[in-house]
Amino acid sequence: MNTRNTIHHLGLIMDGNGRWGEAQGKGRISGYAQGAIALHNIIISAPLLGIRTIIAFAFSRDNWKRDVNEVETILSVITRFVRRSATVMIENGIRFRWIGETDKLPNSMLTTLNSTSEITKSGSKMTLCLCINYSARAEMAHAVKNAVLSPPISDKNLMSSVAKKLYWPEMPNIDLIIRTSGEKRLSDFCCWNSQYAKIHFTDTLWPDFSIEELSDIIKMYNSVSEDDSKIK
Ligand code: FPP
Repeated sequence: MNTRNTIHHLGLIMDGNGRWGEAQGKGRISGYAQGAIALHNIIISAPLLGIRTIIAFAFSRDNWKRDVNEVETILSVITRFVRRSATVMIENGIRFRWIGETDKLPNSMLTTLNSTSEITKSGSKMTLCLCINYSARAEMAHAVKNAVLSPPISDKNLMSSVAKKLYWPEMPNIDLIIRTSGEKRLSDFCCWNSQYAKIHFTDTLWPDFSIEELSDIIKMYNSVSEDDSKIK
């Protein structure tokens, strides 16, 4: 099929890990380790689908309200994922980065996140950005506060001044957000860069989400864009 690739920046809301673990009879916590395997498989193959950036919601500021054991498990699964994937990311030209607040995150986790960002920084095939201890509202508040602390802003420059103070100012616009597990909401995921994003909801629980399903979803959006461009 000779469709134009329109999905370069993909947002992932990886929901349904706990329910997957429960459904397997192994408890909620087991779902997170399986979710990490699913993400690993996606990032290895995503560049072949034309994806240049993946931004994935790994831990929201709301997640602190969960049971303390579950919080510790999620943070340690994320840390292990980043540490263990570093070599594969380097081999596959994947640059790692993360956005979010540093407060309350363990120092050992921050060290892993920052050192992996550093050693993968020359990756040029794709960027994987994890949102950790992240809230879109907190990001906007942070950006507005820092923009107004700068020299006076004219109305004309207001948007660009705020954009420059986001956690990742150069982040490309998100083309498509996929949320797994049947939940149909955005839950404080990146809003500034989702201005024109398409949103796709699938009932698949995140640990079962595969590169085949991603490929089918991308083909569907590419063929819709192809039809749109024929009409215009
Ligand atoms: C919600 O699932 C998802 C999260 C809290 C994000 C954490 C995701 C992972 C650990 C998957 C792998 C990601 C990385 C970065 C290694 P949920 O627990 O709310 O599931 P539920 O809706 O079934 O309760």
